[in-house]
Amino acid sequence: MAHTPRILVVDDDPLVVESLAEFLEHDGHRTTTACGGEEALALLENNAHSPDRDPFGLVVSDINMPDLDGLELLKHLRKTYEDLAVIMITGFGKIESAVEAIKLGAADYLTKPLVDEELRIAVSKALRQHQLLAENKSLKDQLSQRYGIENVVGADYRMQKVYDLVDAVADSRTTVLVSGESGTGKSLMARAIHTRSPRGSGPFVTVSCGAIPETLMESELFGHVKGAFTGADADKPGKCLAADGGTLFIDEINSATPALQLKLLRVLQEKKFEPIGSTQTQEVDVRFVLATNKPLEDLVRAGEFREDLYYRINVVNLAMPSLRERVGDIPLLAEHFLTKYCEQNNKQRTIGHEAMDALRGYDWPGNVRELENAIERAVVLSRQPQITAAHLPESITGEVGGLGLGRNHAGHAGSHPAGNMGEHVWGNVGGGGGNVGGGWTPMPLAEALQEPERCILLAALEANNWNRQETAGQLGINRTTLYKKIKHFRLDEPG
Ligand SMILES: Nc1ncnc2c1ncn2[C@@H]1O[C@H](COP(=O)(O)OP(=O)(O)O)[C@@H](O)[C@H]1O
Ligand SMILES: [Mg+2]
Repeated sequence: MAHTPRILVVDDDPLVVESLAEFLEHDGHRTTTACGGEEALALLENNAHSPDRDPFGLVVSDINMPDLDGLELLKHLRKTYEDLAVIMITGFGKIESAVEAIKLGAADYLTKPLVDEELRIAVSKALRQHQLLAENKSLKDQLSQRYGIENVVGADYRMQKVYDLVDAVADSRTTVLVSGESGTGKSLMARAIHTRSPRGSGPFVTVSCGAIPETLMESELFGHVKGAFTGADADKPGKCLAADGGTLFIDEINSATPALQLKLLRVLQEKKFEPIGSTQTQEVDVRFVLATNKPLEDLVRAGEFREDLYYRINVVNLAMPSLRERVGDIPLLAEHFLTKYCEQNNKQRTIGHEAMDALRGYDWPGNVRELENAIERAVVLSRQPQITAAHLPESITGEVGGLGLGRNHAGHAGSHPAGNMGEHVWGNVGGGGGNVGGGWTPMPLAEALQEPERCILLAALEANNWNRQETAGQLGINRTTLYKKIKHFRLDEPG
């Protein structure tokens, strides 16, 4: 039975664990024993980090234990090991703790003295629950692999690379530099690194070098003691101390003055500092994540940024792609924000084709932040169930000046009168998709073929009055493929 998950048996009484384990082994299970909650946690932790880990599927634990009681253990387990099932054993007549255990997510509880048959049934039920939880977790992992991590949305391979890097560094205390234009999600990634790290339950503290005048910056970071300067009428701890045990996110590091750069160098190197006006050195356990919206190499070359600090912070660089570099993610992000703001505003909206085309065609100097703002605005403005180009700012639809300035794809939605909802703007094939008939914007072929494909499908569907059998036949594809493409391009029959 080497492939079934192990059962961890926990009780502070060695005789009880041994006899329980023996009973379960006799039934064909593999067991491991722990005398108390602390030992159980340590065992699980070691196993999770061991290269040849042999997973546990179920914990059977007593509630009454002196070091870490069963309910506390249960709380830890539910937080850290999503797919582990737990059975709690309560003393006779302790129904409140049994109820509490179920509330906290135990699969089942048993009361002492244990009845063999009850234990058997509870164990086999709990192992089934574990299997379901494990399947669920692996599905969730797959989903998050595909669509991003935490609430970060993006399926572009450049984003996948970012996720991989985040995963690779999250476990360690390595300093991370997140670089990218404003609005590309640097702050979001900093938080994702923190959340996914072992210090995720510790503090996440942000300080921005651009937002605070230099004179206050030092006190903001390191704190000060009473009387250190005029107005310092009490001791004030700084953000470095506030981030102890967690992550300190230093935003806009490119704006740090030379004096601040020097101070930061020392903290990053030694994790030590003195509050202003104090001679007492403080030491902290902090993970540093920094962000820059300008390439630091350029600043180093221009003599505006210390080279030693640059090397100290550029250990791992997460380079966030701009939104115009990942056009394929625009619909994904647009739908994500649509859901968010529809919920917030208690509305139900969809995004019309021409509006989506306009979104895809725009070059987004303000990146994801600008897209988020555009969608929020559109949701708020729209009165009909569908968001049209009329609900988008003119800078995006390209109505201003008629030249389509700032647009990504030549001849895209800019030439379509805003608000012609329900009219298919791609009615004739070859009407000028992203790169067809217009200029050339560098992009992968698969991406460039999206618009022409959509417009061919639409023309064929219209010609066949949305008869899918006929359309599929004419296009020489099977119906399932056609269904998928209709969904993908959202070419459902109008009305
Ligand atoms: N990949 C993404 N998925 C979902 N939301 C994003 C993504 N990138 C950015 N955002 C959102 O866009 C806004 C700007 O992101 P932010 O992290 O503040 O950018 P930056 O720090 O690079 O200026 C935030 O509201 C953020 O939640
Ligand atoms: Mg930011």
